[in-house]
Amino acid sequence: MQIAQLGDQALELRHDGATPIVLPFLWLRDNCPSAFDPQTQERNFDLLSVPDDLRPANAEVIGDSVVVTWPDGHVSRFDQDWLLTHRPGVPRPDPASLPRTIWRAAEMPELPRFAGPKILEEDDVLADFLVTTQRLGISLVDGLAPGQGLEVAQRIGFLRETNFGKVFDVVSKPDPNNLAFTSQALALHTDLANQEIPPGFQFLHCIANEAEGGGSVFADSFAIAEDLRANDPEAFRVLSTVALPFRFHDGAYDIRLRRPVVTLHADGSLDEIRYNAHLTDLIDLPADELGPFYRAYRAFMRRTRDPVFRFTTRLRGGEMVVFDNRRTLHGREAFNPATGFRQLQGCYVDRGEFESRIRVLNRQSGQQVL
Ligand code: OGA
Ligand code: ZN
Repeated sequence: MQIAQLGDQALELRHDGATPIVLPFLWLRDNCPSAFDPQTQERNFDLLSVPDDLRPANAEVIGDSVVVTWPDGHVSRFDQDWLLTHRPGVPRPDPASLPRTIWRAAEMPELPRFAGPKILEEDDVLADFLVTTQRLGISLVDGLAPGQGLEVAQRIGFLRETNFGKVFDVVSKPDPNNLAFTSQALALHTDLANQEIPPGFQFLHCIANEAEGGGSVFADSFAIAEDLRANDPEAFRVLSTVALPFRFHDGAYDIRLRRPVVTLHADGSLDEIRYNAHLTDLIDLPADELGPFYRAYRAFMRRTRDPVFRFTTRLRGGEMVVFDNRRTLHGREAFNPATGFRQLQGCYVDRGEFESRIRVLNRQSGQQVL
């Protein structure tokens, strides 16, 4: 291993003939092991305590370490392997950063199925269930007694409370404040599109489904969005840039938000879909924007009706569907409450807690220490 100064901004580390690693001075000082509190591991270094034109007074390789001495006398000591793993441009390995497997109906003949009691008892089954649900955006848990759906959710993380409570019962009832609490069909949607951050993972535990009708419908909105991106790029552009007004209101709340249907990550990949015709408020775009908007919105909507993307299944008592509410569209067929009882119990756990549980389980399994 050899170290050399590269211009007036960076060190260059050469090792075993591989491509040299470029280590900018400010990056080295800011990521010095001493920049993190030894107890909490949080960064407590003040970046503005060093000048813009910071340069080391000395840099040398000593054994397996790179030792940098700064003009104020501070010494930064880096382990060579650490520098190789965490060098600039290489994100920290993340067991929860799993590639999404985008699916169409033909690729989802059956939902991946997990035994509820095993998830509750065995960490490796919980981990397998979480990883599958993260990749596909949906899975099914069975063998759950009433109340155990909630236990599965709470085993992952704390619940996301909303204006419908921590736990909500989807039943047909008098004086509903939401179409979910009727026996009407629900078109494919994401829940709570009117919220600043719609809940991440949704848990819908079927307690009883004895009425005629009441099938459950699902589609991967990422498959729909990618199909639009490929075949109708102008519609994709409109849906990812034009903000729509969403609103829920009842006697106690009036929760509104404007956002596009499609939200992208900085690298252009899909982050979330916000799609709920029931919660879309009066569309108040200027008249000259309505033509392109409706063309794009209807192109998306038409795909949600296309059997290429959607499939229908019927939940049985004891089964619970778990899905990424900011990706997987869900809906139901109308049911006839005169023919039998139907009750689903729902709750949410946000993406952050869900991913945290994947990382912590991965850490416990001893496969990786990150
Ligand atoms: C909901 C919902 C589905 C169902 O409550 O938001 O989508 O099957 N329910 O009742
Ligand atoms: Zn819903």
